[in-house]
Amino acid sequence: KPQLLIDTDPGVDDALAILMAHAHADIAGLSIAAGNVGLEHTVRNARTLMDLVGGAAPVFGGCPTPLVRAPEEDAAFVHGMDGFGDVGFPEPKVTASDEQAALALLRLTRERPGELTLVALAPLTNVALALRLDPSLPQRVKRLVVMGGAVTGHGNTGKIPAEFNIGFDPEAAHVVFEAFPHFDLVDWEATLRHALDETEFDGWLAAGDHRAAFFGQVFRTARSFNAKSKRRGIIAADALAMAVAIDPSIVTRSEERHAAVELDGRLTRGATIVDWAGRLGHRANARIVLEVDQARFAAMVRRALGAA
Ligand code: BDR
Ligand code: CA
Repeated sequence: KPQLLIDTDPGVDDALAILMAHAHADIAGLSIAAGNVGLEHTVRNARTLMDLVGGAAPVFGGCPTPLVRAPEEDAAFVHGMDGFGDVGFPEPKVTASDEQAALALLRLTRERPGELTLVALAPLTNVALALRLDPSLPQRVKRLVVMGGAVTGHGNTGKIPAEFNIGFDPEAAHVVFEAFPHFDLVDWEATLRHALDETEFDGWLAAGDHRAAFFGQVFRTARSFNAKSKRRGIIAADALAMAVAIDPSIVTRSEERHAAVELDGRLTRGATIVDWAGRLGHRANARIVLEVDQARFAAMVRRALGAA
């Protein structure tokens, strides 16, 4: 089974991704970022999830703000004010650790060098802080999978070409993209190409166990947002990245390219720039995931909801 360290800002699609991790992998820890909503909510949501699955993975609260600039927007309008559809879940029993997320990332990878896949499903603030404290982190991580970017500029956040995770904390993403010699990049555009079939998905929600019932509740706000934005299918960015983290062989088409983050720019701050034409002469640092086996992805999600 893959051993995962998950940096996350739950978040509806983060929740689905964590359910997938629980079903198909071992979770060594959850480091929690601010992003979709504030850190107090994302930490609590991670604890709620661990209650739900009876999971023993430790939850580490991270940095409450981006490294440099205050964000212009969060994603509460998609995920709900509390990030979990404003369902009003009771106070979770699982508690968060006192250890700061960046320090936990360093400690866990020291204890288990070369074993853990780091799955980054949120703004990269915690990972960047860990890298600044200890630049040898990449040598101890088995793989890094990042959900982020809009590789040809079809983004989803305020800045026209930016994707939320990168646009929320561009400096952090810059640190990570420069420091890791190689990572898998699962971007927003790949997410749109791998929307799950709605009828099938509703079938899993109906047939699944307590995890499906929970997800159905959490998902309501995001779902009506998607419907209003006339997107087709169930769009779950973090779930797609998690599928790639759990099983890298699910990728059927990808390109090795250099990826960087724009920190300035009149229109482009926060954009993920992929050097498609190879003009910069930099070594490829990213496997840009273009296509995955959709049937296998769907099967992973279905099992994570307890719908056999
Ligand atoms: C990413 O931003 C967040 O809203 C989602 O959880 C996902 O990680 C998609 O752009
Ligand atoms: Ca996320």
